[in-house]
Amino acid sequence: FRRNLITSNSTQMAIKNVVVIGGGLMGSGIAQVAAQNGQNVTIVDLDQKVLDKAKNSINISLQRIAKKLFKDDSVKAEKFLSDSMAHVTLSTNPEQAVNQSDLVVEAIVEKLNIKQKLFQTLDAVAPTHTVFASNTSSLPIGEIAQSTNRKDRFVGLHFFNPVPVMKLLEVIRIPETSDDTYNLVMEWGKSIGKQTVTCKDTPGFIVNRLLVPYMMEAVRLLERGDATARDIDTAMKLGAGYPMGPFELLDYVGLDTSKFIIEGWAEKFPENPLFKPVPTLNRLVEEGKLGMKTGEGFYKYQ
Ligand code: CAA
Ligand code: NAD
Repeated sequence: FRRNLITSNSTQMAIKNVVVIGGGLMGSGIAQVAAQNGQNVTIVDLDQKVLDKAKNSINISLQRIAKKLFKDDSVKAEKFLSDSMAHVTLSTNPEQAVNQSDLVVEAIVEKLNIKQKLFQTLDAVAPTHTVFASNTSSLPIGEIAQSTNRKDRFVGLHFFNPVPVMKLLEVIRIPETSDDTYNLVMEWGKSIGKQTVTCKDTPGFIVNRLLVPYMMEAVRLLERGDATARDIDTAMKLGAGYPMGPFELLDYVGLDTSKFIIEGWAEKFPENPLFKPVPTLNRLVEEGKLGMKTGEGFYKYQ
């Protein structure tokens, strides 16, 4: 009977209130696409400065989109911008923010224990119906969900950078994810304009399982002195039709995030040569060169 009750409640539920934890590169993009599609979004970060920066970058991105959507109608463009921005709230208090949430999407640092700790805290205070999702690039969703008592309402929702432009959303089910939860997040993906694909809870899901080894192979090619970063990038753009070369993409994704991904896999699957850590990445991260977000990675940005 209880199961039927949950089923009927959640089938009728649509996601209106979204909380995004982590206001960095990904969190700000995820918040933006929800807000521009009429949902109330609260962005939570530890750092107020990050939140202010997130709001600013959402504003800039929305202006680019508004210009395209309403190029001959500045009144409509202005309304789209102000309506979308009005849906965004900022907070440094995750426990308070999740009070009214239907969906929590976590986009914090790529570290299992930190994500588990966050979800454990949120699980104790979030409403029963609230669905939890992680945007992790590489960590097992099942291990993150382990820290909660709502594995049936837990999924992976993996977005791509830049979120407002990249059309894909990978939806990851763990064995415990209920059909209602899965159907709800598939609908939500559609409501924010994304094309969804589904993958089991396996390392890197679909895109990163292919993309990360490719980017690491590019670094190994550079480390062997076979070609320069610039030439490898040019080759992959002009010879394979990629919009960015692997070094441009590493800088775009963030070298810290890329290092966490490969380190985690190397530790878990030491026998897989594709997952071996690359020293150049470790050196750049040690030097604080994290890519575009810090102004320097493989390349310099002003
Ligand atoms: N917000 C809104 N619009 C944006 C935007 C943003 N943040 N960034 C770019 N755009 C828009 C531009 O306005 C432009 O629109 P029009 O063509 O309609 O004018 C369009 O996107 C192209 O932008 P640019 O002309 O500035 O630059 P570009 O042609 O080089 O495209 C790019 C930029 C979309 C980022 C493109 O280079 C690209 O697709 N790169 C590859 C990105 C990629 O592979 N992402 C996945 C990374 S892996 C990942 O995310 C998973 C993980 O877990 C690590
Ligand atoms: P980022 O470094 O830009 O942002 C992370 C933010 O989380 C920071 O602002 C930090 O202050 C905040 N944070 C850290 N711990 C927190 C906590 N306990 N509570 C609240 N906020 C906290 O990182 P990002 O690139 O946005 O990546 C975030 C997540 O998304 C990671 O799991 C990453 O693997 C994944 N991801 C990244 C990309 C990418 O291209 N960068 C793509 C898809 C998925």
